[in-house]
Amino acid sequence: MIKMRDTTCLWLICLLIGQFYAQSQASPVESDNGNQEEYQDDDYDYGDEDDAGTDTVPPVEPASIDPPYFEQEFVSLRAKPGDNVVINCDVRNFQLSNAVMWYKNQTIIANGQIAISNRVEGMKNNSILIKNVTPEDADEYYCLVLPEQIRQHTSLMVGARLSILCDGLDITDRSQTFKQGDHHKLECRTYMATSTNIKWSLNGHRLESSDTENGVIILDNIDESNVGVYQCLGDDGSRDPPHGMVTIDVHYSPKVSTHRHHVNAIEGGHAELYCNYRANPIALSFFIKDAQTLQISEKYSIKNSFHEGHNRTTLLVKNIEASDLGEYLCHAENAIGSNEVKIQLSYNPETPQFEDMTIDGNKVTLHWLVRSLQPLSEAMLDYQLTGSYTWSTVTVLKTQHHNQTGGIWKITHQMELKPGLWHAHVKTKNTHGWSNFSPDHEFQIKSDDADSSIDDVDMPPPDDLVRAGFGVGNVAPTLVQLPGITLLSVLLLRLQL
Ligand SMILES: *[C@@H]1O[C@H](CO)[C@@H](O)[C@H](O)[C@H]1NC(C)=O
Ligand SMILES: *[C@@H]1O[C@H](CO)[C@@H](O)[C@H](O)[C@H]1NC(C)=O
Ligand SMILES: *[C@@H]1O[C@H](CO)[C@@H](O)[C@H](O)[C@H]1NC(C)=O
Ligand SMILES: *[C@@H]1O[C@H](CO)[C@@H](O)[C@H](O)[C@H]1NC(C)=O
Repeated sequence: MIKMRDTTCLWLICLLIGQFYAQSQASPVESDNGNQEEYQDDDYDYGDEDDAGTDTVPPVEPASIDPPYFEQEFVSLRAKPGDNVVINCDVRNFQLSNAVMWYKNQTIIANGQIAISNRVEGMKNNSILIKNVTPEDADEYYCLVLPEQIRQHTSLMVGARLSILCDGLDITDRSQTFKQGDHHKLECRTYMATSTNIKWSLNGHRLESSDTENGVIILDNIDESNVGVYQCLGDDGSRDPPHGMVTIDVHYSPKVSTHRHHVNAIEGGHAELYCNYRANPIALSFFIKDAQTLQISEKYSIKNSFHEGHNRTTLLVKNIEASDLGEYLCHAENAIGSNEVKIQLSYNPETPQFEDMTIDGNKVTLHWLVRSLQPLSEAMLDYQLTGSYTWSTVTVLKTQHHNQTGGIWKITHQMELKPGLWHAHVKTKNTHGWSNFSPDHEFQIKSDDADSSIDDVDMPPPDDLVRAGFGVGNVAPTLVQLPGITLLSVLLLRLQL
């Protein structure tokens, strides 16, 4: 019984295929349920697995010739604008009694080999030729074979829906390497009947339409900042808008920098000089002092590392003496070019770096960090209200407190200022000399409501302002008189723990 059922299934499948086959040949076949029941009954009657096909098709007369048919009823063609396209009518068993009609969608375009539309040429083998196709030629084409009325459907697509051109060449979904300083034009084109809104993005961030006039991006004086994945979307309002991408790489000469332009050292100690660089293709880096390339020796060792997106070469200068002081060059070069950065090694303190600040009303507390293995003897703070011509200066103090091994000092200063945009910078002195001034730090003191700010200025400075400093024993409060404003300034040097 089980075997019987299996056979029935097989029969059903064969019948369905048979029907599809019959329909596809455009020979009308009745396919209502009644018929299927009948065939199924046949299966039970004959129990024969191999003759399914012969039962569904009416017996052919041995003398007659097989009817024409298509091996493929649907063909999909894609062409680029400008191509010459042949659309075949790939009919088998074509007889002298058969005729071919060509349709473009609903319109007749060729009668046999005689073209009716001027866009096409008929060919001897019943194919048609469309020269120099344009997006307007993209359509559904049908080759109809008479009198059987069987047809082959060819869908012609012209052009990608979207392509990205670089200087006129199609680079859609490819990668491209540019050279620093080059000039290139990226253009995104859509080939669609509906109008599209071209949208560009770089590394996932939408580019402003001002940068992309009519879907064109002009890359001028190319550098590392142009590296990335460019995506173009032809927004036609549909759920599946056409899109494409290109990956742009840029070859550039090394970009060399250091985070410590001045390195403090102590006689007999060691110092590390840092050279950070980025390059594509990869670069070679080395240090130069007094026009000599430094080699690994008793005096120097060199370490290469990778640090926060750039490569770093570190020069270790050992057992420092006066002749080691001075200017070091870090030189990096690759196939595109070379660059250098200067690093000063000295006994002076390093340039102070702004650390952080707090503002409470018109009271500001500023912190800088300074490296000096030698004790700091002095610090100087200059500050200025934007728009005024003079700098005010606070010079303070010696301190006994320092960390010999760490060599990091913290400078803290608190003062009361009138509202406005202020600048401040500091420099420090150690037993050998002065550092450079730190870069300007800008900060804004906001005005409260007008009445209270006048009151504040006239009021004597509150006690807790003095106590807010660190290490009360070392505090040297300084009163600075500015026109119309009294300032209390406390500058402190403090050990960094
Ligand atoms: C018909 O002729 C053209 C041109 O000779 C040829 O490219 C095409 O492949 C032919 N088609 C068939 C179905 O042979
Ligand atoms: C084909 O013709 C039908 C009916 O005229 C029309 O709706 C359809 O848009 C046409 N298709 C193309 C691709 O022109
Ligand atoms: C760092 O150097 C390595 C080879 O030493 C190289 O592969 C890499 O690209 C470099 N990175 C940068 C940011 O230059
Ligand atoms: C100085 O600082 C270093 C590291 O910053 C630390 O290891 C050392 O203990 C400190 N020395 C003193 C005396 O506090």
